[in-house]
Amino acid sequence: MPVLAAIKKQFVQKKPFAGMTVGMALHVEAKTANLVSTLAAGGAEVHITGCNPLSTQDDVAGALRQVKGVHCYAKRACSVEEYYAAIDRVLDASPTITIDDGMDLIHYLHTKRRDLLSSIIGGCEETTTGIHRLRAMAAEGKLEFPVIAVNDTPMKRFFDNVHGTGESALSSIMITTNMLIAGKYVVVAGYGYCGRGLARKAHGLGAKVIVTEVDPRRALEAHMDGFLVMPMDKAAGIGDIFITTTGNTRVIAAPHFKKLKDGAILSNAGHFNVEIDMGYLAEHADKVIQRDGIGTFVIKGKSIHVLAEGRLVNLATPKGMGHPIEVMDLSFALQALCARYIAENGGSLSGGVYEVPQEIDEQVARLKLSSLGLTIDELSREQKKYLCSWDIGT
Ligand SMILES: NC(=O)c1ccc[n+]([C@@H]2O[C@H](COP(=O)([O-])OP(=O)(O)OC[C@H]3O[C@@H](n4cnc5c(N)ncnc54)[C@H](O)[C@@H]3O)[C@@H](O)[C@H]2O)c1
Repeated sequence: MPVLAAIKKQFVQKKPFAGMTVGMALHVEAKTANLVSTLAAGGAEVHITGCNPLSTQDDVAGALRQVKGVHCYAKRACSVEEYYAAIDRVLDASPTITIDDGMDLIHYLHTKRRDLLSSIIGGCEETTTGIHRLRAMAAEGKLEFPVIAVNDTPMKRFFDNVHGTGESALSSIMITTNMLIAGKYVVVAGYGYCGRGLARKAHGLGAKVIVTEVDPRRALEAHMDGFLVMPMDKAAGIGDIFITTTGNTRVIAAPHFKKLKDGAILSNAGHFNVEIDMGYLAEHADKVIQRDGIGTFVIKGKSIHVLAEGRLVNLATPKGMGHPIEVMDLSFALQALCARYIAENGGSLSGGVYEVPQEIDEQVARLKLSSLGLTIDELSREQKKYLCSWDIGT
């Protein structure tokens, strides 16, 4: 992770988080540990737990517990009660800055630990669903400190959501099922940043890709990108492998289950485990067989396989490794620099959702290009002037 390493070097010298406590709820896996050690090198005391009951890598959590100034409460396959107890323990440390993936820390703070709100100067949010929730809170005037929407910046969305989710979800599906993608009908629900990556990469592996959407512009984009577009109601009877990534609820639900082919594989790459209606399956299955990240629900003689209990398939299957290292180098470089921005400016900002400052986005891109040994052109003084004028030039 050369970009994060370059930032860590600066942090070691400048100690931007001296005297501060950072509370985190992120997927606790190897790349995250590197972000934690970068923040600790910058002088922060770090308290971290997971942001999904199935995504923690216990060896990484154990290693983090050995690091001075770092406290890790995450455990894989914890119960819902244990999950929230760990969130509570992070907040017991009375953080100055929060870093969330899905907004669970901030939600808990605003609902159950309001006593701690006054000590927080700001936060950072990693994913689309977290930002949806934050914007909803802000619209109701209920978000009490500034939070940077790290997800919404090009250096995150264009790489993490598109390439990270695209590659890691498919590799997790392949390693969990040992099935060939080539020739299969792969149904991608949602043609946003994640969905585009999934559709392109599944196509690259030889799949016949079907996209389902609710946004007419994105549906048209999928059509012109060469994919089949249809409602889930129709796709349900055609697909072999389904991947939801809408950030929405019950995208595959009762009417669709009835139409699925015997042996259909369902997976979710969206943040919460609500995109596939797991409650319906549990209630209506005549038999359920659980093995190695695959739950097989037998309903009236038909088998429906659901990966990772409908949770993030790239992280929550037993062999799910999460996004590739190179991608998380960029996402966590943004997190580290945004956390520093909050450390320096948080106190003067009011409650609300803030964009990533453009200098930070560009800085991460430049550090990455330099780590790749790539150089690019620079605007000349004449070109800068031309771009700001309304004269056509000759
Ligand atoms: N698996 C991962 O590691 C990972 C990484 C990044 C983001 N995410 C999560 O993935 C989800 C999608 O993120 P994104 O950045 O692609 O969001 P996005 O907003 O760019 O795309 C979501 C798309 O889903 C569509 N949609 C909504 N409801 C739908 C429905 N019922 N049927 C079909 N389409 C529907 C929307 O129109 C939109 O085009 C979010 O929950 C996000 O938090 C997961």
